[in-house]
Amino acid sequence: VVDNQELRDEIKSLLIQKNAVLVAHYYTDDAIQELAEETGGVIADSLEMARFGANHEAQTLVVAGVKFMGETAKILSPEKNILMPTLEATCSLDIGCPIEEFSAFCDQYPDRKVVVYANTSAAVKARADWVVTSSIALQVVEHLTEQGEKIIWAPDQHLGGYIQRETGADMILWDGACIVHEEFKAKGILDLKSIYSDAAILVHPESPESVVEIADVVGSTSQLLNATKQMSNDTFIVATDRGIFYKMRQASPSKRFVEAPTGGSGATCRSCAHCPWMALNSLEMLRNALKYNSGQIHVAEETRVKGLIPLQRMLDFQV
Ligand code: 13P
Ligand code: SF4
Repeated sequence: VVDNQELRDEIKSLLIQKNAVLVAHYYTDDAIQELAEETGGVIADSLEMARFGANHEAQTLVVAGVKFMGETAKILSPEKNILMPTLEATCSLDIGCPIEEFSAFCDQYPDRKVVVYANTSAAVKARADWVVTSSIALQVVEHLTEQGEKIIWAPDQHLGGYIQRETGADMILWDGACIVHEEFKAKGILDLKSIYSDAAILVHPESPESVVEIADVVGSTSQLLNATKQMSNDTFIVATDRGIFYKMRQASPSKRFVEAPTGGSGATCRSCAHCPWMALNSLEMLRNALKYNSGQIHVAEETRVKGLIPLQRMLDFQV
């Protein structure tokens, strides 16, 4: 068994040797986020990961996250070698939106713009007019609505419902959900709030409506992180994957961060919100990807070219 320090050192020298940079999502393990930070990589939300990867000069991007993040990087940078610690890391939203069914669904509503969440396969993106992430979805839908467009939204029904309520957009929603955020319960959060009365409630919009309703801030991972820096509260109850606590605690060491419970009461479940696919990313797999060039992402060129159009639209969209 190789200890963590040895692994970390090996990864650091491999990153240099291979002219590679580490792009990590906030939900990956602390050790991976730490490495990204120490080696000139980035810890980011899905939109920032895409932007960082596309703009970085490194020849190889190691994307620690889930598969759609690696595919997005490949669509944007076909000339780069895109590696992932594991190709098994998927997402319940991606799984719940297979291209054949989704395409047939879209065919039923030819007069609607197809807006898909980034948490989808390259093939689903290739069928879309727009790709959005949670940090930009509201603004894009608002913009489309102002232009008189009607929308098909997929796959996250909770994020879609939130956008619909906020913007009044005419949206038909696909029936998908995130298995992590779907488990947050308003009752458990309110129980915690009765203990920490000064706490601000921060919620990722993949959570159910009853949870979004009691939030002080609703936003993407980086928007929630920014809220903890900007707000004067001492305590934050956070309804998103617990991986985000690494950066929240680092940014505000004197503040208290409490995991929103996924059970009915504050006391029953305090540490359940962790994406099982994000958790697959390990230091060992990260080392192997770099050392053996394994976990390579490939996207068929026809799909890539089609998927690039709605993805680039998102990157070019000015908020
Ligand atoms: P963000 O874009 O907010 O980072 O969300 C990605 C994700 O998978 C949330 O579950
Ligand atoms: Fe997908 Fe949810 Fe995991 Fe994010 S947390 S990658 S939406 S399953």
